Amino acid sequence: MRVKNIVAAGLVAAGTVGAVGVAWAFDHLYSPIAPPKAIDLGKVELGKKLYFDPRLSKSGFISCNSCHNLSMGGTDNIKTSIGDKWQQGPINSPTVLNSSLNLAQFWDGRAADLKEQAGGPIANPGEMAFTHTLALGVLESIPAYVREFKLVFKKDKIDIDQVTEAIAEFEKTLVTPNSRFDQWLLGKKTALTQDELAGYKLFNESGCVACHNGPNLGGNSFQKMGIVEPYKGNEGVAGRAGVTGKDADRFSYKVPTLRNVELTYPYFHDGAANTLAEAVDVMGRLQLGKKFTADENGKIVAFLKTLTGDQPTFTLPILPPSADNTPRPTPFN
Ligand code: HEC
Ligand code: HEC
Repeated sequence: MRVKNIVAAGLVAAGTVGAVGVAWAFDHLYSPIAPPKAIDLGKVELGKKLYFDPRLSKSGFISCNSCHNLSMGGTDNIKTSIGDKWQQGPINSPTVLNSSLNLAQFWDGRAADLKEQAGGPIANPGEMAFTHTLALGVLESIPAYVREFKLVFKKDKIDIDQVTEAIAEFEKTLVTPNSRFDQWLLGKKTALTQDELAGYKLFNESGCVACHNGPNLGGNSFQKMGIVEPYKGNEGVAGRAGVTGKDADRFSYKVPTLRNVELTYPYFHDGAANTLAEAVDVMGRLQLGKKFTADENGKIVAFLKTLTGDQPTFTLPILPPSADNTPRPTPFN
């Protein structure tokens, strides 16, 4: 199986290289996060406003940033998200940081990319609870938005495609380069402590790397949650099978990125693990049949905390005011 192959290949290589005293044969399975490139600055600025604008929700109170708070690692730090009318959602909010690097969006990968994803929440009754038509009506009523859309997209009318494209372009800038792990990968050998390096070694040699690899240490495959032992939080959730209809994909999820994982608690699709120590313990037992000692667990957690990169910084967007004829929010009906 794929998991075993990667680990076996790495261990063979580690053995060979180990003979000359360098045991980091897994390094090539990761890569540093690159700064955003080839982005359209006009779309980014517009998308940033839309990302923060709660007027895209029925209540006028919920924006993308409510559940993907850029002051908190691009998540809401609660078990499962709270949407319109205080409804508790069924699933944990994944981070938007580095999500442009993922092979697909959502835990089950049902959206191919960020643009496709961005249309979902506005019209999701459990999230922003609006409709695309009503959201466009609000934007069309605000003169400064009309001007900015026209400037950026050169079209007469605002449509949902422009909205999702601008948001997606902004999200492409939400990458977090320069973590200590990346500095280490790029050759700064003092960037990690002995304990963190010991954690990195455990992470590789125990087999975590089989699923958490690539620039995002995840985000590039769908894997079953509960390979060696079943996971109790799978009940009532289809996972990837909800998209493919294949029984073999039951309880499979997009492997979450471990970038900035120190900031994105609680963990798993159901938000059941409150701490990194707990998440690492569950992963060891359920995915690899391995019970880590407290010392090993601590070292892996120390390594995971080196994955926190530079958080996006920008001037908070000031949103254009509503006009007299802008439809008013209806939070209570
Ligand atoms: C009420 C909370 C809420 C709001 C508001 C919200 N989201 Fe989400 N978002 C979630 C949840 C929960 C998921 C995971 C859903 C799933 O996988 O089924 C998610 C998933 C995502 C993902 C996928 C990330 C990944 O790695 O799979 C992206 C990107 C995203 N949202 C962006 C946005 C944008 C852009 C907006 C605004 C237009 C937005 N979200 C509004 C809660 C929210
Ligand atoms: C067989 C593939 C696989 C292996 C091996 C694996 N993981 Fe995971 N990991 C996943 C999947 C899938 C999830 C999401 C599970 C869920 O949400 O139900 C996940 C989730 C996580 C999370 C929570 C991230 C979040 O944002 O919710 C952490 C932390 C984690 N893994 C660390 C590890 C560590 C440490 C190891 C090694 C001990 C490991 N994983 C081994 C597939 C794997």
